[in-house]
Amino acid sequence: MANVHKSLKQKSIPGPKPLLLGGNIGKRFAFSLDRVKSVMDLYTHFGDVAAMVANDTRRIFAFGPAFNHQILSNTDLFQVVPFLKAPPHSSLERLGQGLIMMNGDEHRYYRSLLQPAFHKNAIESYHRDIASLTVSMLDSWEKQTSVWIVEEIRSLNIAIANKILFGIAEAKNNDSLGKDFQTWLQHITRPSTILFPINAYPFPYAKMLAFSSLLEQKVVALMYQKASIQTTDVLSILLDSIKTSDEPTSMIDLVGQVATIFLASYETTTNALIWTLLLLCQHPAIMDQVVAEIQAVCGQSSIEPLHLRSLPYLGSVIKESLRLLPPAIYSHRVTTDDCFLGDYAIAQGSRVSYSPYVTHRMPELYQEPNRFDPHRWESIKPSPYEYLPFGAGSRMCIGVGLATTQLTIILAMIIQRYSWRLAPKAKVDYQVLVSLGIKGDIQLQLEKPDNTTIPQPIQGTIRRLVDFPV
Ligand code: HEM
Repeated sequence: MANVHKSLKQKSIPGPKPLLLGGNIGKRFAFSLDRVKSVMDLYTHFGDVAAMVANDTRRIFAFGPAFNHQILSNTDLFQVVPFLKAPPHSSLERLGQGLIMMNGDEHRYYRSLLQPAFHKNAIESYHRDIASLTVSMLDSWEKQTSVWIVEEIRSLNIAIANKILFGIAEAKNNDSLGKDFQTWLQHITRPSTILFPINAYPFPYAKMLAFSSLLEQKVVALMYQKASIQTTDVLSILLDSIKTSDEPTSMIDLVGQVATIFLASYETTTNALIWTLLLLCQHPAIMDQVVAEIQAVCGQSSIEPLHLRSLPYLGSVIKESLRLLPPAIYSHRVTTDDCFLGDYAIAQGSRVSYSPYVTHRMPELYQEPNRFDPHRWESIKPSPYEYLPFGAGSRMCIGVGLATTQLTIILAMIIQRYSWRLAPKAKVDYQVLVSLGIKGDIQLQLEKPDNTTIPQPIQGTIRRLVDFPV
């Protein structure tokens, strides 16, 4: 294949110039300071294939449905790799060895091993736990007039992940492991950690490695604790696989699977929920329509699995929120051979990224893409490569069914019990750790459900991403 490609004319890939001070690394650092703006700027200024820095053709972005299809449907040519260099046999290396970072047969083996825990019937069986943990959160809001919503929703989703994925219910474990993962996320996504992988103090990379060891010990402790309890959750499936595997496998080999599932589940779902709550309270007409739908279908009775199929408007709200603010902004692959993206020759070993965020903002696919408009879903039916908040192809998010069920149940239950608005003078800045979320926290004021939401003036960088009515 490489020879065929060489016969074609090579075009240089456009991209921004290196910085005068700092060169390519400087430009990559600048890129990582606002990944959302940077990736959109690349597309706007340089078109559907662009290099992160003009003279570095090994870091490329390819935008739009055709390239999404090419990248995501050819998993042998476009393979996943860790985004952070890990010393061999380190805790960091083991923590990264989860489904999301595996290729080929290994990926197929673990994907089919885990699949039963994400099957439709399994997801229905999680409904009761999701609902009862949500009730506990909502009850705790009863005596409050406002809540710090990111903290609340993150704790809820960590508790849900612990219960349904790992069969663990104790609050103290939930909180501490969740906080440790949050700290680890901050360590591994810091631009200085990624750009300077130097294992010596005071470099942040060395601190991150030390923290990775601590985290690994906690995950292993969780697995030992769990090994003595027999339940049917993701962790039990993994632990059972040790007994049945032909290969010698131990708990330490599964640390990465546990860490990946835990991280991939609560952070993305938390961000999707927060964005949806924010979008709803800033769009009262849409909020009124969701409230009316939930009242008509469920009234004040508890939300049952059967109800979930009868809430199409809430479904459109969630879809639209995931279109406008998809937690996964972009994701990387590395090429295992020379290839072409359109007219551009790409060398083996290049890092190629696709972007759900940029695809979802293409006006030819979504009119007025910066507007939150759930009604658009009545008349559009995008292909899997035009709408891909959960990725696409054989590596599509394994938790898609669980995440959408979880979002629907929690949102419906919040809407049944409360109306909410942003606290005055709220500043909403976005940040990308692994996924697109809110920087810090925001306060929501709670009211009776029959009060019409009044949108508040909103400040902060979120205004760059969404055209709010106020
Ligand atoms: C709103 C919530 C979620 C969003 C937006 C989301 C998004 C994604 C995306 C875009 C990918 C593909 C990444 C790529 O192509 O490189 C992915 C993969 C994955 N997600 Fe999710 N996810 C969510 C929830 C979950 C949940 C709840 C779980 C597990 C409980 C989960 C576990 C995974 C795993 C294990 C993969 C790797 C799949 C593979 O490579 O075979 N995700 N997710």
